[in-house]
Amino acid sequence: MNNPKRYTVTTALPYANGPIHIGHLAGVYVPADIYVRYLRRKGMDVAFIGGSDEHGIPITIRAKKEGTTPQAIVDRYHSLIKETMKRLGISYDHYSRTSNPIHHKNSADFFLNLYNKGKFTEEVSEQFYDPEAKEFLADRYIIGECPVCHFMNAYGDQCENCGSTLSPAELINPHSALSGSTPILKETKNWYLPLNEYEDFLKEWILEDHKDDWKPNVYGQVKSWIDDGLKPRAMTRDLNWGVKVPLPDAEGKVLYVWFDAPIGYISATQEWAQEVGKDWKPYWQDEDTKLVHFIGKDNIVFHCIIFPCMLRAHGDYILPDNVPANEFMNLENDKISTSRNWAVWAHEYLDDFPGQQDVLRYVLAANLPENKDNNFTWKDFQTKNNSELVGILGNFINRVMVLSHKYYDGKVPEKTVEFDELNQLKDFAKNIGAYLEKYEFRNALHEYMNLARLGNQFLQIQEPWKKQHKPEEVKGIMYAAVQIAGMLAQLSEPFLPFTAEKLNKMFNMELKDWNELENISEILPAGHKLNEAELIFSKIEDETIDAQIQKLQNTKTKNQMTNPNAEAQRDEISFDDFTKIDMRTGTILEAEKVENADKLIKMKVDTGLDVRTIVSGIAQSFTTEELIGKQVTVLVNLAPRKIKGIVSQGMLLLADKEDGKLTFVVPEEKTSNGQGIR
Ligand code: 2FM
Ligand code: ZN
Repeated sequence: MNNPKRYTVTTALPYANGPIHIGHLAGVYVPADIYVRYLRRKGMDVAFIGGSDEHGIPITIRAKKEGTTPQAIVDRYHSLIKETMKRLGISYDHYSRTSNPIHHKNSADFFLNLYNKGKFTEEVSEQFYDPEAKEFLADRYIIGECPVCHFMNAYGDQCENCGSTLSPAELINPHSALSGSTPILKETKNWYLPLNEYEDFLKEWILEDHKDDWKPNVYGQVKSWIDDGLKPRAMTRDLNWGVKVPLPDAEGKVLYVWFDAPIGYISATQEWAQEVGKDWKPYWQDEDTKLVHFIGKDNIVFHCIIFPCMLRAHGDYILPDNVPANEFMNLENDKISTSRNWAVWAHEYLDDFPGQQDVLRYVLAANLPENKDNNFTWKDFQTKNNSELVGILGNFINRVMVLSHKYYDGKVPEKTVEFDELNQLKDFAKNIGAYLEKYEFRNALHEYMNLARLGNQFLQIQEPWKKQHKPEEVKGIMYAAVQIAGMLAQLSEPFLPFTAEKLNKMFNMELKDWNELENISEILPAGHKLNEAELIFSKIEDETIDAQIQKLQNTKTKNQMTNPNAEAQRDEISFDDFTKIDMRTGTILEAEKVENADKLIKMKVDTGLDVRTIVSGIAQSFTTEELIGKQVTVLVNLAPRKIKGIVSQGMLLLADKEDGKLTFVVPEEKTSNGQGIR
């Protein structure tokens, strides 16, 4: 679209079922932020919209795994994700969440709008049902033996062991993850959007009109979906977590998460508009608005087919102008996986590398999986930081600052020589802008670094420090070098916003409009006073990188364990160490809670040797009543320890349970107190 009046830029709403990782950042959030920051600098009217996707099976699965409620899960992760985005400088105008009441209302209204227009078909189908839990089961909730690799815990949609895509009917001995019972097939009615009726519309709108401006990976995927023939798709589900289906005969049904989530973009825009006193409608309903969805490749069908069909069926909305989806970022040559903890978690990176947000932004932007999957490695991260950010960009800026202060006390000297480089400056602004408008972020960043390379070459060739130069010549060289550095500071902001702030402070200037940058050859006039230099990038040492690699290695070791949820093995001990341990069976005679300590219980335990006092942190797993008379295993020769002023003479053996509580480790058959455990 040429000359849009405004932009609505959305980023895929991450499921609030876990933190975000570098795959999310490279796929969606870093490129979207670069794009939006550039648009703002061009003086465009932009609404940059994001939020958390808080519905759907991924949320309920996580809640079940952690033994908590879906609401607790989304509350936790929404806050974490929102905070992480902010720390990384992802400059949303509004970051929302789909559990907000306004969104529930919008989604229900949208559904009713389509329902009243007769856009849905009603279909009765047979779905798996848990007769004991009395709930319909999503494919993920059905577990059984994989027909391909015979892994015992394959899911009804996929085997995580061999990666096969499955359907629940293919599983051997399927059982419900809710109750363990065998699922039965039961009839249920749902509302379907007949995507097949939109084929002509999609063919014309995407396959013809967007043949040349959509990325080949996106266009190709959409084309193959259409070529394979589209089928009606259920827009409601039998589930109790989500937006309730607003119809009288829909008890126990919610909107399909992929129906409500993209409407989340609209709800978030409404919230934002209300906050800033604007009208939301033009951002979604005016043909002169350019709507751009930043997503990962697994979201293509939803943003290019299903959501546009919903918008079309509704009739009041514009369609996306582009959907610049990225492919996937792998980590150390392996697919990033939340369930296998194979990821660099963004919040952990921020904690481990304080003040180095831009290093991650840079490395990801330089490696964006724009046309094919790409790979993040810690070694490459180190190299890009040390050789490019420190070695090229940081080095040039530093030389310019040092020399300017040394020769001219930080004052920009006069222009005494006409260097060609000065005329090239505006071309960098133009070229970078042109790449960004085509969603070619890697090229844009590469071009940016070319300017830093040019700066270094310029100094290398001109050598202002050489004795044989006349003072007038040195002024001319340094004037030009300062302009290159100034342009670098100006152009850095979309990619490296934190660095841009430092640079602008150093150069004592404000960010300029990008249009202006495309037309000037002087950024900092003669006489302008520069501030003191600050360190912008620093070398990352091998130890830092090795620690990150070790962290991943630990994950790998864990993943190879038969129960990856178990604690990793501790350091080896000798047989002699083991024989020093004296464990006996005993019986708890008395138990009382320790005052002012939530977890502690003080007990009298008969160990067969004596009756002794033991204090243990088990109050969250047992009541004092149920402890009395229990047989336990006691580590009797542990040195006495004072706990809350009470001397504890031993330790009880306990095992962790999956729900976070504890259970006693005892002999299978009751034995008398004082019997040894070996
Ligand atoms: O794939 C995902 O993580 C989805 N939660 C993305 C939703 S994007 C949009 F439709 F909201
Ligand atoms: Zn398998």
